[in-house]
Amino acid sequence: MTFNKQNNQLTIQQINQTDNPQVMAEQLFKAADAGFKKGSPWAIEHFFQTLQAKNSIIFAASVPDKKEFKSKPALQKIVGVLIASIAATEVDIYMVVVDEAYKKNRIAYQLFQHLMTYCKKKNVENIFLEVRVSNHPAIGLYETLGFQRVGERKAYYSSPIEDAIVMQLKL
Ligand SMILES: CC(C)(COP(=O)(O)OP(=O)(O)OC[C@H]1O[C@@H](n2cnc3c(N)ncnc32)[C@H](O)[C@@H]1OP(=O)(O)O)[C@@H](O)C(=O)NCCC(=O)NCCS
Repeated sequence: MTFNKQNNQLTIQQINQTDNPQVMAEQLFKAADAGFKKGSPWAIEHFFQTLQAKNSIIFAASVPDKKEFKSKPALQKIVGVLIASIAATEVDIYMVVVDEAYKKNRIAYQLFQHLMTYCKKKNVENIFLEVRVSNHPAIGLYETLGFQRVGERKAYYSSPIEDAIVMQLKL
């Protein structure tokens, strides 16, 4: 998979059992912190717990870390993260975020393509998510992927208080 921006190669992998969940939690936190306007909504500890939960599905998009470019093999920097959970035939999206410097390169789109391949293998029937009514980039992403608006949750979010749109993708 070729990633043209800065001629780096994008790798997308599912994060399963990891030898060092603390290091992975810190990397996921850094990517989220670099992607959300107000910084990561989750603390490192929250990523750490999610990494260890059996029903978690985590995909990470990485590029070679420029700072370490000469090391062999090059160290990877996580620039996109998709976190979901699975219960029977349903998947709930918890977070999708792309590092500000890498947005609009179809990284979130590709993370979702990997999730969908996973979902088809697991016979998942529906993917659900909530999104802030003002989050136009995310709503645009979900609509591009075929998600449909199926409901609203009043004052679902805090800081600032805002309604959520509930979206569903039927597989
Ligand atoms: C939402 C977000 C994950 C999109 O990531 P991205 O990698 O830049 O998105 P992609 O390049 O894969 O875009 C895929 C599609 O999404 C839509 N989209 C992405 N960014 C958009 C924007 N700024 N405005 C409108 N639509 C947008 C477009 O339809 C796009 O298709 P296109 O490439 O044909 O234009 C990213 O903007 C982000 O990290 N936002 C902050 C975190 C967040 O709010 N996450 C959602 C709630 S957890």
